[in-house]
Amino acid sequence: MALLKIRLVPDPILFRKARKVGKVTAQHRRLAADMVETMIEHSGVGLAANQVGYLERIAVVQTPDMEEALVLVNPEIVRKEGQREVEEGCLSVPGYRGMVLRSEKVRARALDLNAKPFKVDAEGSLLAQALEHEIDHLNGIMYMDHLVAHTGLYKVEEGDGDGAGGDGDGHNHNHGGGKGDSGFDVWHRGLHGVERDGG
Ligand code: NI
Repeated sequence: MALLKIRLVPDPILFRKARKVGKVTAQHRRLAADMVETMIEHSGVGLAANQVGYLERIAVVQTPDMEEALVLVNPEIVRKEGQREVEEGCLSVPGYRGMVLRSEKVRARALDLNAKPFKVDAEGSLLAQALEHEIDHLNGIMYMDHLVAHTGLYKVEEGDGDGAGGDGDGHNHNHGGGKGDSGFDVWHRGLHGVERDGG
């Protein structure tokens, strides 16, 4: 297993749509294992393959109450219901957070690493939020697209947990923007500083 380098905004790969996985291979299993290791190292609750440089539809999620990471190949949200405001951050936007609108209830469908289909249901939880966040990544969408109207990002001192809340393990992985960089600048660069995929 190996730690992978996390791509940060405004890396264009974050704004591109990932390709569907045709056949699940040993390379995909290795990538998924490395993604899990990288997510844990950075105290994140989720990671999508484009965040580590692969435009393939693979994401991993592990919230603090899950014993094992969930690997999702070709995941899709098949049902969502309701709306809520939650705080969110992203490993690709270290040092910042924002308030976003997410669904209350989410059902996702995906394949596991043996290409076996499964469904996940989540309601009002960090898992529901992380599923939407990671599947967005695979569509080239960042959480800044879901900011509550008239709000921006705000700087946080520690932690860079992907998905949301409660990552604080005391590590500071802030490789991001320098001093005087407002959250809005990062958001603006992220959204408009690169060409976006048409999809
Ligand atoms: Ni993210």
